[in-house]
Amino acid sequence: MAVLRTADEIRDVNTRYHDVAAAGYDSKWGIDFGPVGQAQVIGKLRKALGSSCSALEHGFDRSLEVGAGTGYFSLNLLRAGVVQEATCTDISPGMVRTLQANAERLGVKVETGRADAESLPFADGSFDLVLGHAVLHHLPDLGQAFNEFHRVLVPGGWVVFAGEPSRFGDRLAAFPKRGANAMAPLWRRALRAAPLPPPAPSANGSTNGDDHRLEEVVDIHAFVPGELERFARAAGFTDIRVRGEELLANWFGWFNRALEASANPDDVPMLWRQYAFHGYLLLQRVDRRLLEPRLPPAIFYNLLLAARRS
Ligand SMILES: C[S@@+](CC[C@H](N)C(=O)[O-])C[C@H]1O[C@@H](n2cnc3c(N)ncnc32)[C@H](O)[C@@H]1O
Repeated sequence: MAVLRTADEIRDVNTRYHDVAAAGYDSKWGIDFGPVGQAQVIGKLRKALGSSCSALEHGFDRSLEVGAGTGYFSLNLLRAGVVQEATCTDISPGMVRTLQANAERLGVKVETGRADAESLPFADGSFDLVLGHAVLHHLPDLGQAFNEFHRVLVPGGWVVFAGEPSRFGDRLAAFPKRGANAMAPLWRRALRAAPLPPPAPSANGSTNGDDHRLEEVVDIHAFVPGELERFARAAGFTDIRVRGEELLANWFGWFNRALEASANPDDVPMLWRQYAFHGYLLLQRVDRRLLEPRLPPAIFYNLLLAARRS
């Protein structure tokens, strides 16, 4: 795999990788648009903003999500009534199409468009919330991106990001992945699951597998909390808060996902998928109640950032 050198290459690989990922994205990551999904995104928003912040109680009139993917955050926030009007953008046309299809299926009205988070096609002061989930770590020029988030916000508006990998948490996640890879043949035998078949070539000679392998190279950052804070401060934000979330839940999640990724998806029983999903939710609660209030943000797998445009 060639080393990525330019910002344009990084954007191009992100677009291609996420175009391929779009169709199976919701089932791969267990994305839910019902009460469970709504509770999750509201919980993350509350954690990022802090329980004393009144913004969440009043809700937001106009939000912009960057790197919105299939709509996990915005569609859930719209359905829960936390956001009145949402605009969702993404660099991947495939993701934008999937998001639009999800919105139609759910009967939710949303504006969508293709946009690079570093160059937003909106007038100054257009939104009172700019948000994103698991997107900052894909952006080549974070300084420019934060300038754009600041520019399109009204004075007093909030920026919120969640699901950004922490550098320490990312290193720790390598252990469950390695453990799962070692155990995968035994696990498949126990579940009578066949190994993942080799990818079929497409018309242009590439394979889905080529694009799936791009996963290794689209993640270009893992952060320490102070870095995120510095980007926000340099763009002019105030009231900056960085929090950490998920430790046990992430080890459990990575372990199970690595096992599942080794098998033919049709052979993974529903019972196993239920166990993995509900186990993850249970450990999220353990993290939230016991670990997150006591340990420093840098320890956790995910970082959350909230800041205000003054
Ligand atoms: C890990 S996915 C997260 C999707 C969604 N936010 C979620 O949480 O399900 C990252 C998303 O960021 C998008 N992305 C990557 N680089 C981007 C860029 N420069 N500008 C806008 N979106 C980008 C990808 O296309 C992808 O949809």
